[in-house]
Amino acid sequence: MGESRTIGVFGAGWVGLVTGGCFAELGHRVIVRDVVPERVAALEAGLMPFHEPELQEVLARNRERIRYTLDAHELADADVLFVCVQTPPTYSGDADLSFVWTALDDLPRTERRQLLVMKSTVPVGTGEKVRAALEARGLTHVGYVSNPEFLAEGNAVRDFLHPDRIVVGAFDERDGTAIEELYANIDAPVVRTDIASAEMIKLAANAFLSTRISFINEIANVCELVGADVEQVAKGVGLDHRLGPHFFRAGVGWGGSCFGKDVSALKQLAGNSGYHFQLLAAVIEVNELQKRRVIAKLEKHLGRLRGKTIAVLGLAFKPNTDDLRDAPSLVIGSRLLAEGALVRTWDPVADARDRLRGATQCSTLLEAVTGADAAVVVTEWDDLRGLASEEVRAAMARPLIIDGRNLLDPGETRRAGFAYEGIGRPSSQFETLPETAEPERKVSS
Ligand code: UDX
Repeated sequence: MGESRTIGVFGAGWVGLVTGGCFAELGHRVIVRDVVPERVAALEAGLMPFHEPELQEVLARNRERIRYTLDAHELADADVLFVCVQTPPTYSGDADLSFVWTALDDLPRTERRQLLVMKSTVPVGTGEKVRAALEARGLTHVGYVSNPEFLAEGNAVRDFLHPDRIVVGAFDERDGTAIEELYANIDAPVVRTDIASAEMIKLAANAFLSTRISFINEIANVCELVGADVEQVAKGVGLDHRLGPHFFRAGVGWGGSCFGKDVSALKQLAGNSGYHFQLLAAVIEVNELQKRRVIAKLEKHLGRLRGKTIAVLGLAFKPNTDDLRDAPSLVIGSRLLAEGALVRTWDPVADARDRLRGATQCSTLLEAVTGADAAVVVTEWDDLRGLASEEVRAAMARPLIIDGRNLLDPGETRRAGFAYEGIGRPSSQFETLPETAEPERKVSS
């Protein structure tokens, strides 16, 4: 058993609450500080500001050990202060660190040695800058550690408590060890590094995950041209233990709050340091084009989209979240509207009315597909697995499904009377065979 410590958390956002809740679950005392009074009041009342599976239970179960506050002075009791504030991109593509600097301004005045730990994703070099800022303020007794999060939405509590690895970068070995000890009850390899390397591990991990997806999406696009099936290809390739099967699903592209931001941040960081990161430029461009390929697939069947009714099914950037940040649905929906299509959207939880003005958001799946010339699966919600039903076919003006996540079985869907287009899957038995001439037969006499 590790020793129980008092942990302060700057920011009651998604990362902050998962971090605070899970450290409390591990037996530590936690003080979460946020600047928004309504948020603190809601948390005190046991209400969640967003949906994340298991988090509410974790916070409720450990209520005795967690305190929420607006007052940064209350963090004076903490041994360790986790910085879990937002770092959104600026106009230059760099990360906006103003919330980090505000956290620094709010550091409690105390003589005891505290450790400031960066959980938020930041550009490489931030640790050096924070160290310099601490020195300039005479806060030499505050230590600094980088301990990036690797949490995926919808799975964050499990990712925290059962991580693939824990990365701890420190200027001072003892500080790194103190942070490592907080995780003593977790069974995972700990990677001890210098600060810059810890910062880089986070950016490189997200960049490589995005690269894998853009790679399999390009393979899918070639599969369509040569008559191969990307689902079979990905399975066959992914069984190579050097490559692995994860993050290898072709689709309409990656989205979410992290990938776009972090891949761009790494590309800019390289650029600012004088290096042109060509591969990442391609990874980003492939992803942008991938979202737009849906339009061409629709046009193949429907011709010009002006006046056609298209059902966009699934809006969230992935299932089991209502998060619309960088969601492919927004690009697909906006492109359809720009082509003059009538767009009807449906999602079990996400609400895109503010972002897709001109589209009709429907409350049921059946309502969205009624009168539609095509239905596009954008997010692989479980509710969409039964899309190829008799009821849906009867409701649509034309039975055309564009499956942007390869969620449905092509054979079953066609047998149910739909025209079907997936991503990287043969679009019909004959259409995509390459046009190679039949070999001439020599008839021996
Ligand atoms: C991601 C990382 O997984 C996490 O480690 C990091 O800390 C933050 O970014 P998240 O954004 O929550 O987490 O979503 P994730 O489940 O990783 O999916 C990202 C996007 O990639 C989604 O739009 C998803 O649909 C897409 N994706 C994922 C694919 O298109 N194909 C795949 O094979 C996997």
